[in-house]
Order: sequence, then structure tokens, then C-alpha cells
Amino acid sequence: MGMRPTIILGLESSCDETAAALVADGREVLSSVVASQDKLHERYGGVVPEIAARAHIENILPVLHEALARVGVGRDRIDAVAVAHCPGLTAALLIAVTCAKTLAWVWQKPLIAIDHLHSHLQSVMLEEQGKEPNLFPAVALVVSGGHTSLYYGKNPLELQLIGYTLDDAAGEAFDKTAHILKLPYPGGPALERLAQKGDPRAVDFPRTYLGKGSLNFSFSGVKTAVLYYCRGQNMLGKDRVPEMTEQEKADIAASFQAAIIDVLVDKTLLAAERFNAPTVFLGGGVAANLSLRNQLIRRCQEQDRRLIAAARRYCTDNAAMVAGLAYYKLKAAQVADLSLEPYPLSPDLAAINNRRR
Ligand code: KG4
Ligand code: ZN
Repeated sequence: MGMRPTIILGLESSCDETAAALVADGREVLSSVVASQDKLHERYGGVVPEIAARAHIENILPVLHEALARVGVGRDRIDAVAVAHCPGLTAALLIAVTCAKTLAWVWQKPLIAIDHLHSHLQSVMLEEQGKEPNLFPAVALVVSGGHTSLYYGKNPLELQLIGYTLDDAAGEAFDKTAHILKLPYPGGPALERLAQKGDPRAVDFPRTYLGKGSLNFSFSGVKTAVLYYCRGQNMLGKDRVPEMTEQEKADIAASFQAAIIDVLVDKTLLAAERFNAPTVFLGGGVAANLSLRNQLIRRCQEQDRRLIAAARRYCTDNAAMVAGLAYYKLKAAQVADLSLEPYPLSPDLAAINNRRR
């Protein structure tokens, strides 16, 4: 013990990023390597599970070796092996889970199982931000391609799911709307770029609040509204009607983005108020969106709350956040064994659904 930092190796393959990272004391990122598969899935307009799994198999060892080589540490300096084992595509999760179990067994190190969504929340604590005092209690918005979740956290390990999407995730809505607008895959960043040139008040797309006080989300309506709007204006280029102009596209993108962000921000602040949380966390792929970040910063300032947003490089999937959260689990002796298996669902959400049944 003493001054020697705790170094954890994190692995991640839940969707279409293969990632490995070494993190010291849950905060200092020694190395973070991510192999993206965007090019492989581009022609299908979405992630194809079999293709993702095959690419993870090809990428996992090179990514692992790179993460170790950049720091120049071997097994003796590594205190634990952590892996995101849920939620995600089972075939994809299996690759990092198998790799982590093998390393934990061969190296004789503790194995730590991480919930991918909890690790997105943890990503806000990487690097300097993790040094800030009294980060908890906090309300956290985790917005990704697969999930839109609100958590109330007393500490990194005690997280309560307080809101979730009933249909599309925010990132999914960005990706599908980008597809309607014929933007390149993945849609989120492309749509944000286009929206910067548009007028967010050009089209009044619906904001779905699901009843007064609800902390849940629904984003399939706004995506469908974009589709119908384009069809209604005969903008989709079928049947010899004119395609939409670049400015029209930009206005639709900006208006769509504003509708999504308004709901995300309103509900996050409602949750912060209800749970009396002085701090708000923002993480997940969609948290890279600058309009979302700026609007949430502004609204938090108005209410005297502190916003801690993940650094943009740690918003999309990575393994540093996995190793970061694992530090707290290791300290609390929350260790898995070699029977660990991938699990496609969010256990938090599954628990809520079971209770309701
Ligand atoms: O967290 P992430 O890398 O993967 C999942 O766990 O799903 O999130 C990916 C999602 C995609 O839907 C992508 O379009 C979206 O995040 N995204 C963005 C931006 N960057 C990534 N959405 C809006 N604006 C962005 N700048
Ligand atoms: Zn993610």
C-alpha cells in the first residue's frame, strides 16, 4: 500500500468500440485505446451484432497490447482486471468478458464486473474533475446510443435509476434522424455539425414530457415527426419532387436537436430539484454534443447547481471509465468470479420492469 497507486486494467466491447485502458486510483488515465468500427457498420446504417463481435475478436488483443505498451507496465503492476459485462450486445460483450476472465485467471488478479451505464456516469470523474470535493450526492444524465437514463447517486457505488426512455434512446433518435436527412453514419456528430448552420426555431417539433413530473423519456415521436415533416414538404426526393436544400436540412437538424435537448435538460433539472442534488453529471455519447452541454451549464448556473460533464474524449465508449469505476468496487471488495457472463440488459431497468409485472 502506501504511496503506490492502484492500477486497474479496464476492457470494453459492449457495442462497436473495442477498448482497453489503464487507470490509476480511479482517476488518472495512464492509457486509453479505442478501436472504432464505424467504417464496418456504415453501409448498414447501424451496428450489426455478428460483424461487431468478429471485429472485437480481431481488435481486442492489439488494443490490450497497445494500452499496456504505452505505459510500459506488466502484470506485476496491475492490481485488478475490470470489464463491462452489461448492458449491450451479448455476442459483443462476450469478447471483452472472455479476455478479462482469462487475464484475471492467468495473472491471478481480482476480476471486477462493471455496468456499462454506471461507467458512463463515472467518466465525469476521470482526470482533474475527480479531485473536486463533494461530487456527491448527484443526479446524472447518461445519454448514449442505447440508453437515456437519469440516476441519483449517493456515491459511485450507490446509484438509483430514476428515469429511463420508454422507446428510442436520445442517440438512437439522433442516428435515425440523421439517416432521414441522408447524413453519414454515425449520425449524432454529423447532425450536430449540420445543426450549427440552422435555425432551431424553424420547425416546432414535439417535446414529449409523458405527464407532469415524469422523469422518463420518449424520443420515437420526434423522429417520426421529422420524417412526416420531410414527407409533407415533399423533401425526401422521391417521385420527382425536389430534394431539400442544405439550408432546409440545417433548419430541420437544428429544430430536431433543440426538441431533444429541451426535454433532456428540463427533466435533468427536475430530477436535481426533486432529489435536492447540488451536482449534476453528464455522460454518454450524446454528452459530446456542445448545444446540450451549453444549455445544461446555463440552466444549472441559474439554479446554483454545479454541472460536471465528462470530457468530450470520454463521452463515447471507452475503457478508462470502466477502470475508473472498478477502483471503487475493488476498494469495496465487490469482486466477481470466473463464472461472470455477459448480460444484455441493464440490471437497474430489469429490476424496475420486474417490480411492475
Ligand atoms: O455512449 P456511446 O458511444 O455508445 C453507446 O453506449 O450507445 O454513444 C453513441 C451515441 C450514438 O448514437 C451517436 O450518434 C451519439 O452517441 N453521439 C452524438 C454526438 N456524438 C455521439 N449525438 C449527438 N451529438 C454528438 N456530438
Ligand atoms: Zn456507451
